[in-house]
Amino acid sequence: MFEPREMLAAFYERKGRARDVFVVATLPVPRPRPHDVVVRLAVSGVNPSDVKSRNGRISMEMPFPYVIPHSDGAGVIAAVGAGVDAHRVGDRVWVYNAQWQRPHGTAAQYVVLPASQAVRLPDDVDFETGACLGIPAQTAHRAVHIDGSVAGKTVLVTGGAGAVGRYAIQFAKAAGASVLTTVSSAAKADAARHAGADVIIDYTTEDVAASIRAATGRSHVDRVIEVDMAANAGLYPSIIAKGGTIVCYGSGVDDVALPVRMFRQSDVTLRFFLVYQLPLAARRAAISDISKMLKQRALSHAIAARFPIAGIAEAHDAVEAGLASGGNVVVQLPEQIP
Ligand SMILES: NC(=O)c1ccc[n+]([C@@H]2O[C@H](COP(=O)([O-])OP(=O)(O)OC[C@H]3O[C@@H](n4cnc5c(N)ncnc54)[C@H](OP(=O)(O)O)[C@@H]3O)[C@@H](O)[C@H]2O)c1
Repeated sequence: MFEPREMLAAFYERKGRARDVFVVATLPVPRPRPHDVVVRLAVSGVNPSDVKSRNGRISMEMPFPYVIPHSDGAGVIAAVGAGVDAHRVGDRVWVYNAQWQRPHGTAAQYVVLPASQAVRLPDDVDFETGACLGIPAQTAHRAVHIDGSVAGKTVLVTGGAGAVGRYAIQFAKAAGASVLTTVSSAAKADAARHAGADVIIDYTTEDVAASIRAATGRSHVDRVIEVDMAANAGLYPSIIAKGGTIVCYGSGVDDVALPVRMFRQSDVTLRFFLVYQLPLAARRAAISDISKMLKQRALSHAIAARFPIAGIAEAHDAVEAGLASGGNVVVQLPEQIP
């Protein structure tokens, strides 16, 4: 019998600045429906899309009367709904899509979600790492694998010190690519180097196309994994190979001018995707590869900052201001209601 009735949670009832809208208080613990699990969370991961949903950049409309934010987190299965193997109680798990089109995310002591969205976390992998996998690692995996094998190819990961970028470097290297990346500082270069990038280019001080030529002896890359298409589109004509692919997972602004004639003449492919709605086969492939690499200790992770649940507004401010230099921001959940 699952006992807890109340949980500490962070939530908002209107959109706006983090410090204006966040409330940290007790709420009822939701009960599992058939095929659900209840996860007692240790850590909640904060991602840019959680921030954009809360600050109104995506829409000022509240999708639900209140929202407990965050899609990523990690903890232990505390109870299961009908139809779920009771042996899963006690499993250490990481979760994904917790707040995608639902009001209850992971910024709380408990989350209830479909059992398939709670993935086994190896015993020697800590919960902070688990809270980085849902959005950053799955996005990076999809970006690397969305358009066929990268084995033997040259891949440019823009923003390689970012939460997604660091994993993209690692997945591309694991898949046999030669990886170049761009960063904006020495600290971010260290993060990208640690992730395994072969060539690191400071895009704030170097001519990126010239640095690619100097480092590889080739003038073009086969694939670009793009964090900010609006900022970098002007670079593509001088760096993308004939038949190359640009995989865009982010853009500073939505409306972007693209060199269409050049793309047409060079048979360039553009790919876009949203990690919340990965096709089932891509989701399974990402989970399988992430699980395998975690077991082999072949993935490195970086926590840029940790906050207690009472500091959730500061956690969002850190992500919003881009302060997380080379890693993820996480929020820690207490075991008991203080
Ligand atoms: N499509 C999806 O499903 C999906 C999934 C996850 C994330 N995203 C989006 O992807 C973006 C990044 O997410 P994240 O969690 O990785 O954020 P993050 O941890 O803040 O990383 C972003 C990185 O990009 C770098 N950067 C920014 N502008 C750049 C530019 N013009 N050229 C090269 N590097 C640049 C940043 O460093 P500097 O500014 O110092 O260079 C930073 O290292 C966000 O917009 C997010 O909403 C989309």
